Amino acid sequence: MPGRRPALRLLSNVKKKLKILALFDAIAPTTIDQDLTKELKTEDWKTEANVLAALAELGHTTEHLAIFDDLNLLRQKLDSFQPDIIFNLADQFKNNRAFDQNIVSFLEMHGVTFTGCGSTGLTLCKHKAISKKILGYHRIHVPNFTVIPRGKRCTRPARLRFPILVKPLKEEASYGISQASFVETDEQFKERVQFIHEKTNNDVIAEEYIAGREFYVSLLGNHRLDVFPIREMIFKEVPPDEPKIATYRAKWDEEYRKRWGLQNQFAENLDPALAKDIVQTCKRIYRLLTIDGYARVDLRVTPANEIYFIEANPNPILAADEDFAQSALKSGLNYPQLIERVIRTGLKTVRE
Ligand SMILES: Nc1ncnc2c1ncn2[C@@H]1O[C@H](COP(=O)(O)OP(=O)(O)O)[C@@H](O)[C@H]1O
Ligand SMILES: [Mg+2]
Repeated sequence: MPGRRPALRLLSNVKKKLKILALFDAIAPTTIDQDLTKELKTEDWKTEANVLAALAELGHTTEHLAIFDDLNLLRQKLDSFQPDIIFNLADQFKNNRAFDQNIVSFLEMHGVTFTGCGSTGLTLCKHKAISKKILGYHRIHVPNFTVIPRGKRCTRPARLRFPILVKPLKEEASYGISQASFVETDEQFKERVQFIHEKTNNDVIAEEYIAGREFYVSLLGNHRLDVFPIREMIFKEVPPDEPKIATYRAKWDEEYRKRWGLQNQFAENLDPALAKDIVQTCKRIYRLLTIDGYARVDLRVTPANEIYFIEANPNPILAADEDFAQSALKSGLNYPQLIERVIRTGLKTVRE
């Protein structure tokens, strides 16, 4: 019918404004109407501030809440505000980063819509051994590894070859990872395992060290996945024979990054066939680990062009200047557009 089509197009372009609860974590107890103005000006709260600014720009009605260990605050807020969706930036509970999945389980049990990954994906990815077992079963290359729980003897199984990287089993952001995590003797191995057991309140995963380029691949979606341009961490001033590891300092200490020429940039000189292989592999990883929402997959590629899975990060850092948003931007999504896509993806996710 004449005249009908333009009207329809207009309708589909008008996106409904939403009531959004931005959910944050806090490192100390909070109250329901806590004033976070001071925190939001700090580097630590950069992501939260960036997302709030984008939500305002998009015209959504937004409230925020930071929780430490009190889910009653969340219950109260859900009752009073009745949001259409939670923008979930809470990735720890009681200072424990392995509890991100439990916060999301609570939301799932209450039938609340939220952005990002569901509890199963978060659980599988947080456990650095289970994710590798699943992917290894499906013939994706993963480093050989062993798990050493707290209270068990710190001996290296003979099949695990040096050099080895000793890591906390369930951590983020390279907590517990330094140059000393790279071990080449049984003595060093034992020492580092003990250190992680005692200092980080974590079991250990010890992995064979994969030498090669380090890539970060950002994906968004549930069934149909967008894969954004590939980022790479480069170690410009690190001598060739030294291990190249994104340690805690390598990620977060600007001075240190400068000194060693550590930079995150778009991957250059990638053979198109390899790039295609990386994209396909990352889509498989995303699906095999039941990730939904958005994620960054970390890989190493050996000089023989073998793609090794290192880690998948569902709900990766969303700050505008971090790899995920930078990759999205390169593909043409500016920051508010990216935030809108994250929300729309969350609204469409079927959780049960
Ligand atoms: N098996 C490995 N081989 C080589 N480098 C590794 C390996 N495992 C981890 N790394 C290095 O350590 C960094 C952090 O490890 P990762 O498992 O991603 O911990 P986190 O979850 O704390 O980010 C990686 O980005 C990579 O540089
Ligand atoms: Mg990582």
